[in-house]
Amino acid sequence: WLSLPPSQQNTFLENYLRSQLAKVLGLSADTVSGNANLLDLGMDSLRVMELINKLKEDWGLMLYPREFYERPHCQSLALYLQDLLRGGKNIQTQTLATAATFAPLNPLPPILQKLPPVVFLLSAPRSGSTLLRVMLAGHPQLVAPPELHLLPFNTMGDRAKVLGVSHLGEGLPRAIMELQGLDASSSLALVTQWEQEDRSIAEVYATLQGWSKGRLLVDKSPTYGFDRQTLERAEQLFDKPKYIYLVRHPYAVIESFVRLRMDKLLGSASSDPYALAELIWRQSNENIMAFCEQVGRRERCYRLDYENLVQEPEIMMRSLAQFLEIPFVEAMVHPYSGERMTDGVHPQSLGVGDPNFSQRQQIDARGAIAWRGIDLPLSLGEKAQAMARQLGYELPQEIKVDKPDTWSESFFEVKGLRLCLCEWGEVDAPLVVCLHGILEQGAVWHPLAQDLVRRGYRLVAPDLRGHGKSDHLPAWGSYNLLDSVGDLAVLSEAWLGKPFVLLGHSYGSMVAALFASLYPERVSKLVLVEPILPTPLRESETLERLKTHFEYLAHPPVHGVFPDIATAAASLRLSIPSLSGSLALALAERILEPVTGGLQWRWDVRLRYRTGSAFGVLERSSYLALLSQLSLPLTLIYGDKSEFNRPEDLALMQQVMTQGKLVILSGGHYLPLEVPRELAQVLM
Ligand code: A3P
Repeated sequence: WLSLPPSQQNTFLENYLRSQLAKVLGLSADTVSGNANLLDLGMDSLRVMELINKLKEDWGLMLYPREFYERPHCQSLALYLQDLLRGGKNIQTQTLATAATFAPLNPLPPILQKLPPVVFLLSAPRSGSTLLRVMLAGHPQLVAPPELHLLPFNTMGDRAKVLGVSHLGEGLPRAIMELQGLDASSSLALVTQWEQEDRSIAEVYATLQGWSKGRLLVDKSPTYGFDRQTLERAEQLFDKPKYIYLVRHPYAVIESFVRLRMDKLLGSASSDPYALAELIWRQSNENIMAFCEQVGRRERCYRLDYENLVQEPEIMMRSLAQFLEIPFVEAMVHPYSGERMTDGVHPQSLGVGDPNFSQRQQIDARGAIAWRGIDLPLSLGEKAQAMARQLGYELPQEIKVDKPDTWSESFFEVKGLRLCLCEWGEVDAPLVVCLHGILEQGAVWHPLAQDLVRRGYRLVAPDLRGHGKSDHLPAWGSYNLLDSVGDLAVLSEAWLGKPFVLLGHSYGSMVAALFASLYPERVSKLVLVEPILPTPLRESETLERLKTHFEYLAHPPVHGVFPDIATAAASLRLSIPSLSGSLALALAERILEPVTGGLQWRWDVRLRYRTGSAFGVLERSSYLALLSQLSLPLTLIYGDKSEFNRPEDLALMQQVMTQGKLVILSGGHYLPLEVPRELAQVLM
């Protein structure tokens, strides 16, 4: 298949799918035409699982039911598979990493009497929870079924709505089969009946406990850790439940999550599975750790490290048995012996939990050191690193990586005005030029630069005139957007000398867009982050605005004085809360100068009162006309929580830029600081 040209690869895949689907459906291959709806032809959840198992067997590719239901035609499925098998480069998604959440829809209604104790096995996904669950399932005093996915919901109806077409719901019917000795269809029918009755989750737990006949129920569902409120519900529903908190090295968890394509299982639209995996690992651990802290760690929470579990299973299980107040039994360290609900509801189905569990025959101690051989494409974010260290994990990749923890600075001249340039990365690498917003500075791109340099780019960001370390205009001058366009023209021609990706944030986006209109041959791609439009000048206010402008020129205001750098940095963080403490300090230090009594910003104070910038700038309509004529690749990026842009301006912008790609990221106006990694991903 790999050696075929792309057009034939697709035909091959379509024919393959057609014959497999025909087999599964019991039809002849020619009945399964390319665009026939496969659901109409009889593909039900069981048959979907059969196809998925076949794909896993033949192609080593883990496809999840949701992915099938999203494209139930032979043709579209073949195209999708082709893309996946070739590395997934063409799969376009618009929303970026947000942790898939299984947060409660509604608060839990009051409970008259708490249910008897249960045990919750909490962990981030891919931490070895299936192995531990199966080990516990060997104990005669425990009932440890596959993932129940009950806790976040109030009723079975809510649960059905959220779990939908994913196969995450199948742990419950599998548990019922075991507890009640039912076959698959009776057990599934019972669950459907509960869903139709919208039976309360508390009642379902009570029923399962009743059927467990005095044995302790263990609920292992890795999504519980995604949300703190879900965890709180365990305390509301049960009388003194116990918690096993399973932890594992982030490298191993992230690598496994991505390899298993768990982002698809969770139905996430993230285009960066590594970022999603890291976010889920971090948030799950943060939530579970804080929750255990609150519950009282020693009596009811027990931390177990996967690395210890697989290296010293007996010692760990003895200690765990003590915590659960049950005797240790040998069966706990022989997870592959006996029947322990590791299969699915039907012979063809996938068991809920680790799909690779059955590929091993024993506890594999090598899992403990797997993280040492993993080289993730990006280093972990600051928060994930802090969490890893708190858990006691070494992070060799973060130490080894030559991280650009600072930038270099140089100056270029435009007609006697010296402008400062911040630079990151190798000189020969593909170039990205970034333009900051008003009252900011070039070094504000540092978090994005760290990511881009890791991905092999060079990033250059000037301090626009009057900003950062760049020169101010003479006393009689006033700042005009078009002059910054001119500065960029000089920079690109005399200094950079090759086309680049041009990225502008806020005010910088106007400079970038005008530059790209004037010099399209110098820009390979234009990216506008939280773009703004020129503010229309009301005719009735013209005289007033002019007067104010000249007043400021005649009597320029002065900057306030800070006692020290830390106070100045704190004031930066007040206006941009997403700025990290260390970057705020570095940015402040860079642009402070000593004055009598302390320190003062060195950027031109006239920029604060930008009355002059309204004059001599293009009219809004002319600016929009220029944008609509842009023919180079263009991406517009907005933050879903930004309140910076008026909805009518956004609508206008999108109306004229019909050829651009629109991306919404989770964040506010300062996306380059809030979500640098996601932004870097969009630039690729
Ligand atoms: P990989 O197979 O991708 O390495 P979870 O059950 O929480 O999803 O975790 C799955 C991981 O548990 C597996 O991920 C594997 O590392 C580990 N695991 C599963 N079975 C195991 C076994 N028999 N011995 C050691 N580790 C096992």
